[in-house]
Amino acid sequence: MVSPDSQLLAPVRPASPEAVAEAARLLTGGALVVVPTETVYGLAARADDAGAVAAIFRAKGRPATNPLIVHVADVEHAQEFAAEWTPSAQALAAQFWPGPLTLVVQRRAGTVADAVTAGGSTVALRCPAHPVMLELLRTWQLALAAPSANPANYLSPTRVEHIQPSIRAHAKLVVDAGPCLYGIESTVVDCTSDSVRVLRAGSLTRAELSRVVTVCDTNASNGDQQAVARAPGMQDKHYSPRCALGVLESAAFENRVSARRSDGARIAAVRCGTQARHIDDRVLVRDAAEYARELFSLLHDLDGGGFDEILVEAPPSEPDWAGVGDRLRRAGG
Ligand code: TXA
Ligand code: MG
Repeated sequence: MVSPDSQLLAPVRPASPEAVAEAARLLTGGALVVVPTETVYGLAARADDAGAVAAIFRAKGRPATNPLIVHVADVEHAQEFAAEWTPSAQALAAQFWPGPLTLVVQRRAGTVADAVTAGGSTVALRCPAHPVMLELLRTWQLALAAPSANPANYLSPTRVEHIQPSIRAHAKLVVDAGPCLYGIESTVVDCTSDSVRVLRAGSLTRAELSRVVTVCDTNASNGDQQAVARAPGMQDKHYSPRCALGVLESAAFENRVSARRSDGARIAAVRCGTQARHIDDRVLVRDAAEYARELFSLLHDLDGGGFDEILVEAPPSEPDWAGVGDRLRRAGG
């Protein structure tokens, strides 16, 4: 029997010009739509519609103190929302947009609903490199507030199968464009001054940013208090499965996996680039980009697998792994 609630879930439509046109009409009218991006799926609404933006916060159970990213068509569009477009913002946008990079700049008053910026003086802007999003932003001339389309603190969705019923119940449509290319969210950088600071490690690496601008050493992930204050979404626990999850260095990881299994616990063991030894082992390749692409999908899969605990072998600590390391650390909380 179909439960009454399931009839209220947003329909899923494969990406096509007609589906994107329907998404644009719904968004224009103030509805929420789940949209694909190159990083993760987003829950989108018009950034200038206070009612629609409030619905995003309700759908996710997101604290009002955590601001949203505004997705824009290009640099010119971004400048409409910025009180000051700094040389670092210009240099980074020119190099990496459209792409998985979010720039935090001073906000221009009155351009987006106050809730988007959590009432703060800055705004986060990103021009995404996904054809569906670019069609909505460019052809339909929308500016879209869009967080990842997951309940607050849960795993981000990289395929439509990951979209939880609680999110689908608040949206009017889900546009399916298959698995996301990058698999973890955009890198968020503070561009309010010319020494750029990474607020959230992500799909674009620090090495890539450093080719274009000077990047400060400190960031919110390693406890810099000024950066923490500027990155309200960097809670310790985030991106978490419902199942308990631990991340351990290789030797401790192997010891704990064996000890828990000999106690009779059902343990999912996630190794990095080594062979599976047990039916419940999973292996992710030792390549940061490929690992990132598969990570949330694997965790969604394991979270539904009835395990007592998911144990993950810590990935390499090199800078290119910062985005993956950050998501795993906070998945464990
Ligand atoms: O890849 C992405 O960025 C995805 C796709 C959908 O675009 N979006 C995404 O949004 O990850 P969300 O809401 O899940 O994460 C946005 C992050 C949060 O950590 C938030 O605190 C931070 O960006 N943020 C937003 N506005 C900010 C601001 N004005 N200052 C500092 N951090 C900000
Ligand atoms: Mg998120």
